[in-house]
Amino acid sequence: MNVADFGDRYRERIWETHIAEDFERDIVAGFAATRKSIPSKYLYDALGSALFEAIVLLPEYDLPRRESELLERYVREIVERTQGRLRLLELGSGSSQKTRTLIEAAIERYGAVEYTAVDISLDAVRNAAVQLLDRYPDVSVRALVGDYFQVLGEVTPQPSTLALCLGSNLGNYPGERGVEFLRAVRGAIAPSDMLLLGVDLRKDRALMERAYNDAIGVTAAFSKNVLARVNRDLGAEIDIGNFEHSSVFDERTGSIESYLVAIRAASYSLGGARKAVRFAVGERIHIESSHKFTRDELRVLADECGFVERGFFTDEEAAFALVLLERGENATKKL
Ligand code: TRP
Repeated sequence: MNVADFGDRYRERIWETHIAEDFERDIVAGFAATRKSIPSKYLYDALGSALFEAIVLLPEYDLPRRESELLERYVREIVERTQGRLRLLELGSGSSQKTRTLIEAAIERYGAVEYTAVDISLDAVRNAAVQLLDRYPDVSVRALVGDYFQVLGEVTPQPSTLALCLGSNLGNYPGERGVEFLRAVRGAIAPSDMLLLGVDLRKDRALMERAYNDAIGVTAAFSKNVLARVNRDLGAEIDIGNFEHSSVFDERTGSIESYLVAIRAASYSLGGARKAVRFAVGERIHIESSHKFTRDELRVLADECGFVERGFFTDEEAAFALVLLERGENATKKL
């Protein structure tokens, strides 16, 4: 881990830690597999993060709006129930826009707040941190850049923490990975500390799919950008025009599965001496799973990971939910 310098202006109020990743190894392995895939964390380079901020503004992608409404409506209640939580630890902070509601409520209640932002995107975290520091004199920021699992392994539990995992980020860890993720969060907070989850709920299939297949193609640009990143960072020669974005709800996994689909058969250089990658007509690269939760599923998952439900807040349509969990005392159940 290395610590970057934010300059005199913010010294003492910001710490940044950086964990390296192995883009080349992950891409080569993902393309060599029978079912091709690219880890979704690589969607968020500078352009990818900017495109994601545009997705958030799309009428079809209503998750962030629903979540913000719930946060605004219930923030005081949440802050009351998390008595004495002066520290926020956010997993997947992105622009930290929604977090402001919680930061403001915490300042109002406790006078000051320590905010630790964890995100895969260095650009997103830096911009967010500087904006928060400028806007809120009573906030100190710790920015941790890297894969959640790696970063959480480095975090020492600080008492009085409210962990945040908003934007249905949990859904991007389907099945067993979700269990591992929540257990990693549990390990990074102290007993009786809390976790606020923002999760998208299971609903009408057409509505769920619409959120990931917008009419003007911002989501398609966002997902194709990962191929541009492969070309740029590896010197690969993938013809991006040969791919289409597709997101479909899979009944079997209960998740929206997002893919890049090859329109024609082709073979592309991955740059340097690396083995070329071949695509058959219609072959797909899996880029993201976005799980859609039922309330029962959430209860089972929380229990399995050593959390107790302390609050469940949802909208009139039960489209999205904020779930407040408390870290239980007992060790987690064996798998
Ligand atoms: N994590 C977001 C989600 O699952 C990101 C996202 C939105 C996304 N639209 C996408 C990821 C399309 C891949 C493709 O909702």
